[in-house]
Amino acid sequence: MRKPNIAILGATGVVGREITKIIDELKIDFNEIKFLSSAKSAGSEIEFQGKKYIVEEAKPESFDGVNIVLASAGGSTSQKFAPEIVKRGGVLIDNSSAFRMDKDVPLVIAYVNDEDLKNHKGIIANPNCSTSQLMLVLKPLNDIVKIKRLIVSTYQAVSGAGLAAINELTANTKAVLAGEEFENKCFKKPIAFNVIPQIDVFCDNGYTKEEMKVANETKKILHLAADTPISCTAARVPVYNGHSEAVDIEFEENISPEEVREILKNSFGVTVIDNPDNYEYPTTRDASGVNPVFVGRIRKNLAFENGISLWCVADNLRIGAALNTVRLCRKVIEMDLY
Ligand SMILES: NC(=O)c1ccc[n+]([C@@H]2O[C@H](COP(=O)([O-])OP(=O)(O)OC[C@H]3O[C@@H](n4cnc5c(N)ncnc54)[C@H](OP(=O)(O)O)[C@@H]3O)[C@@H](O)[C@H]2O)c1
Repeated sequence: MRKPNIAILGATGVVGREITKIIDELKIDFNEIKFLSSAKSAGSEIEFQGKKYIVEEAKPESFDGVNIVLASAGGSTSQKFAPEIVKRGGVLIDNSSAFRMDKDVPLVIAYVNDEDLKNHKGIIANPNCSTSQLMLVLKPLNDIVKIKRLIVSTYQAVSGAGLAAINELTANTKAVLAGEEFENKCFKKPIAFNVIPQIDVFCDNGYTKEEMKVANETKKILHLAADTPISCTAARVPVYNGHSEAVDIEFEENISPEEVREILKNSFGVTVIDNPDNYEYPTTRDASGVNPVFVGRIRKNLAFENGISLWCVADNLRIGAALNTVRLCRKVIEMDLY
């Protein structure tokens, strides 16, 4: 198998650091690797697999000879560099929302819709973090009984908003405990000891962009009909890492909680913890720092015919961003798509 030259764009960010760690964990076999950032972090050092690398400022010529770029540097940076990467024959695996709904860009969760990778024209998009963890749960169920309607409520950690947001939770919490004034910058409201029902900006229909991403990306990845009713409410909670989701699914036909439990127990990337009598159900602390999507509280939904409700928790920096990016990189290498 050929070995690619890899670049990590946004290597100094929360997701970029996690990508670097996971490239090592998944033993991605590369020829050369480089770490790119903005001018701000250029010149800083990254230690990787026992070697020291100097972070370089990303410029068009940084992508000369690079086969696969793993990007987590924001939408505008991806938009700026995508043509430069593609022009040079590279494949961009992008974490931002810039290209996700572009019809020429496959939106892929590894082990869910790998076949879509074959249609790439130089850019592959990694879904939004809340969508990502949900796909590994919904795909095996939708393969057995078709999803008719979906309602998702998310409880999202601050790490999903980057390094500055993590620091703001710490600083805001300390300020509240010390009885000091605090000016919030990353969030529209104070995040300490609070729950904020806004992630991203509001759309004309009253939903936020984050909520619409969950609805639209789910349909694209699972190849659901465009008019499948999906509704999401996304909230930011004062948790450092790990997104939780309450999921209500209506299926075309009846499926029991026992069947759902059995299907998910045998599904790739999913761990079922579901024994409420013993207080066994997944929490964000179980999920942070590890790869599985955890599912529990599987029960019959009382509002829908043929309905199931469940609770789903995962590390948003891993399955929601970096882990899937690196898994996609591995698929691109294995399927010889670069
Ligand atoms: N956090 C999540 O859970 C999550 C999940 C899915 C997707 N994403 C997406 O991933 C991206 C990064 O998120 P993050 O949380 O890692 O943010 P972050 O911690 O703020 O890191 C941003 C990274 O991008 C680099 N960067 C910024 N502007 C750049 C430019 N003009 N040229 C080159 N590099 C530039 C930064 O370099 P400097 O160090 O030089 O500033 C840094 O390495 C965003 O698009 C976000 O939407 C995040």
